[in-house]
Amino acid sequence: MNAEASQRLAAAGQEHLVRHAESLPEDERAAFLSAAAAQPWEELSSALDAVGSPVPELRPPQTYSLGRQLNQHEERKRIRNLGQGLLAGGRVATLLLAGGQGTRLGYAGPKGNVEFGPDEGRTLYRIHAERIVAASEKYGRPVPLYVLVSAATEEATRAAFDENSEAWGLQPGQVRFLVQGTLPALDDDGRALLAAPGQLALAPDGHGGAFETVASAGVLSELRDRGVDVLTTYQVDNPLGRSLDPLMLGWMVERRLQAIGKAVRKATPDEKVGVFARDLKGRTRIVEYSELPPPPEPTPGDAVESPLMMGSIAIHGFSVRWLHDLAQAGQHLPLHAARKKVPHLDESGNRVEPSEPNATKLERFIFDLFPMAERAEVHEVKREWEFAPVKNPEGVDSLVSSRVLVDAEVRRWHESRRLELPAEVRLAPREIDGPGDA
Ligand code: UD1
Repeated sequence: MNAEASQRLAAAGQEHLVRHAESLPEDERAAFLSAAAAQPWEELSSALDAVGSPVPELRPPQTYSLGRQLNQHEERKRIRNLGQGLLAGGRVATLLLAGGQGTRLGYAGPKGNVEFGPDEGRTLYRIHAERIVAASEKYGRPVPLYVLVSAATEEATRAAFDENSEAWGLQPGQVRFLVQGTLPALDDDGRALLAAPGQLALAPDGHGGAFETVASAGVLSELRDRGVDVLTTYQVDNPLGRSLDPLMLGWMVERRLQAIGKAVRKATPDEKVGVFARDLKGRTRIVEYSELPPPPEPTPGDAVESPLMMGSIAIHGFSVRWLHDLAQAGQHLPLHAARKKVPHLDESGNRVEPSEPNATKLERFIFDLFPMAERAEVHEVKREWEFAPVKNPEGVDSLVSSRVLVDAEVRRWHESRRLELPAEVRLAPREIDGPGDA
């Protein structure tokens, strides 16, 4: 068994792990070798080889706007009714992506536990839970909520839901957790790094790991058996994320779509959002901002705009039957590389704390499902109504900017129902002006 694992590692260019195993106590050696040998080395090495390959030629996607396209009241109503029918029939489940670490925000725990306000204890998780509860009550069926967590976020996320689900109005059994996997971090020669003796340096495999997890954990079969037709996905950092939007759901039914994604026009060509594009085969895809070539320099007097300006707000709908078929056919999502600082042990067993990126982490993205679909569409939505991301400690896409947009939503809601605004919403603009402003 050890010999087989060692052979496999050596063939994968990971002989240093075999050497390392020899330094381990006898009882730890076999477990280390078999866990290391089970990593998808070939796939990791092809992903490393592909780093820096040119982005394929891309064109702007065909984009629809539910607002503009369905400007006739009756037509909008008909499509919305289709979506509402899905919700009322219990045919929609949603997956909240919450496995990220919120490094940019500088918050130590899961982003979902960030206090959003205005009242105490109103965290991002609570806001998402309340939205699900509101939809469940409105349509008379508890919408199943799956929460994707990683090793970094699982414990605190489970604790937050265990303590608060009832108070937030969620039904017992309504929330399930999916734990994404991990992949080894690799050095510049493609060799796996060690975090500690007998332990590979592992990193979360990205939210695309959810696809592998739902397939292997039997969730897709479970959803199908429960009669769920659509699984939507959205991100924990967007409190305005409308993952149960009846128009989006109705449009999926109307057009018999396998995948749908919501887009907004990018605020600036270099805004850090993925963009929707169409490849030469005519397939819709999302290209992550980190993998896009830099936008063209605008020349004075001549505003050159990148042709790829439809930014993804990461709200997607997928047909469950289609996901199930992909999983049955053994489809995997591709790996993307990112340079990161990864503390590790060197060959002599000394701990190294790098000050510069020293390793490659590989991740899968859930939105790589798009180019697998024959029927996928992009829908432009009103930015200020649906996109209030919390990414940075201050300025653009911060808690402050997000609160302004959420307050505006609360105002709209009250005004449309001719209700009086709660005091804390009226107070919010003062916070934005900052101390000292009138
Ligand atoms: C993300 C999208 C980008 C989109 C933008 C909109 C990715 C790779 N990029 O960028 O296309 O335009 O949001 O705001 O998603 N997460 C996991 N597991 C992981 C990593 C992340 O569940 O291993 C979750 C996070 O908790 C978060 C979401 O995925 O909810 C996005 O992660 P983040 O790394 O913050 O993405 P952005 O760079 O902001």
